[in-house]
Amino acid sequence: VDVRYAVNGPLAAEEFAALCRRSGLRRPVDDMPRMERMLRFANLVLTARDEAGRLLGAARAVTDFSYCCYVSDLAVEPEAQKKGIGRDLMRRLGEHLGEEVAVILLAGSQALEYYPKIGFEKADAAWMIRRKR
Ligand SMILES: CC(C)(COP(=O)(O)OP(=O)(O)OC[C@H]1O[C@@H](n2cnc3c(N)ncnc32)[C@H](O)[C@@H]1OP(=O)(O)O)[C@@H](O)C(=O)NCCC(=O)NCCS
Repeated sequence: VDVRYAVNGPLAAEEFAALCRRSGLRRPVDDMPRMERMLRFANLVLTARDEAGRLLGAARAVTDFSYCCYVSDLAVEPEAQKKGIGRDLMRRLGEHLGEEVAVILLAGSQALEYYPKIGFEKADAAWMIRRKR
């Protein structure tokens, strides 16, 4: 497949929710107003689409474009996985951000072994306050 990548290109909440569902990425897909806010207020979203415009993958992040970037969601359609799309999305995200910006994320249990393969180092000093719902 000829994969087309876009930075902050169009991404409908319904498409994004369908991608989360199909890839098994657990997000509040039954609360569409919340999914819409997740996209509206994220300020760096990369998409991968096929020739027909179908969504193959996406990365959603919040950044200041100067110092840090939190990548909240990375997902690739099951039939498009293991073809380098996830790696390409994250590489393009890093290129867009440049050398001054740290890219920070929390790996889901299915992807604990994934991030070291695409260049991430484990951060032992990470701390968080979990969302309540
Ligand atoms: C995890 C995910 C984003 C990876 O995207 P992808 O496009 O399938 O992965 P890539 O093709 O870029 O894979 C790069 C390398 O990582 C490996 N890899 C892919 N998914 C992996 C996983 N879940 N765990 C460990 N390694 C993985 C690939 O085999 C490949 O290895 P290689 O370089 O030796 O060939 C995708 O599989 C996905 O959407 N999974 C379900 C949702 C999810 O877990 N998201 C992340 C939550 S933090």
